[in-house]
Amino acid sequence: MVHLGLIGKPLSHSFSPRYFAEKFAREGLADHRYDLFELADVADFPGLLKSTPALRGLNVTIPYKRSIMPLLDVIDPVAAAVGAVNTISIEDGRTTGYNTDVDGFRSTLAPLLNGLKPRALVLGSGGASRAVVFVLRELGIKFRIVSRSRDRGDMTWDLMDPSVVNVCPLIINTTPLGMSPDVHQCPVLPYEAIGPKHCLVDLVYNPEKTLFLKEGERRGARTLNGLAMLHAQAEASWRIWRKSVT
Ligand SMILES: NC(=O)c1ccc[n+]([C@@H]2O[C@H](COP(=O)([O-])OP(=O)(O)OC[C@H]3O[C@@H](n4cnc5c(N)ncnc54)[C@H](OP(=O)(O)O)[C@@H]3O)[C@@H](O)[C@H]2O)c1
Repeated sequence: MVHLGLIGKPLSHSFSPRYFAEKFAREGLADHRYDLFELADVADFPGLLKSTPALRGLNVTIPYKRSIMPLLDVIDPVAAAVGAVNTISIEDGRTTGYNTDVDGFRSTLAPLLNGLKPRALVLGSGGASRAVVFVLRELGIKFRIVSRSRDRGDMTWDLMDPSVVNVCPLIINTTPLGMSPDVHQCPVLPYEAIGPKHCLVDLVYNPEKTLFLKEGERRGARTLNGLAMLHAQAEASWRIWRKSVT
C-alpha cells in the first residue's frame, strides 16, 4: 500500500482526493490511496506520522504551508527560498519538504510569455504570492506586489491608478478575492486601464472565470485561471513521491 494524502484545515472543498483517485484508477495503481487528514493544529503532525506508518507523501495546504517547515527533517532549497512547503515526501521516516506551486506557476506562465518579459503586478502577498514572485525573479521579470499593508508589499491598493496598470501588462491575482462562494468580489483595480496588451492570470480556479478575469476579458485582455497551475503542481508532487515509492 502506498498511502498519500493532504494536511490542512478545513479540507472539505479540496480537489486533490478526486484528482488522485482518478489518476490512480487511470494508471492501474490499485495499491495507492490519497486521503484527507484534517489537523486541528500543526503540532499534530508528528502524531499523524506515528499513527499512519504507511504514509509516503503528503500535500500541505492552508494554513500550514509555513508552520510545517520547522517540523520537517529536510527542506528543499526552492521551498526554503520561497518560505513555504506544499509537498512532503516520507522515506524511512525521514521527511523532506518541497514547493511545487513554483513548478505549477512556472509551467503555466511560460506559454503566455512568448519570450517577452512584461512588467508585472502581483496582487496579494501570501503563500501563493511567494511562489509566484520566486518564478518572476527566476525569469528576470520586474514586478510590484500590491498588499493591504505597506510592510508586506511594494504598494498598497489605494495607490493603484491607471498609470500603474498601464505600465504593467501582466497582472496576477494571488488573493482569494472572487473565489467561490464570494464570486461577486474582485480585486479593486482601475479596470478601465486594462486593454488588449494585458494578460490577467488568476490563481483562483473555482469559479473557472472569476469576476477579475471577466473584467479583463471584456476589455480585450488575455486571461488564464488557476486550473492549469493546480494540475501542474499536483503532477509535480506526484513526480516527487514516485521517486521514493518505485
Ligand atoms: N491554482 C493553484 O494551483 C493555487 C495554488 C495556491 C493557491 N491558490 C489560490 O490562491 C489564493 C491564495 O492562496 P494563499 O495560499 O496564498 O493564501 P494566503 O496565504 O492566505 O494569502 C492570500 C493573500 O491575499 C491577500 N488578501 C487576502 N484577503 C484579501 C482581501 N480581502 N483583500 C485584499 N487582499 C487580500 C493577502 O495579502 P496582503 O495581506 O498582503 O494584503 C493574503 O496574504 C487562494 O484562492 C488559493 O486557492 C491556487
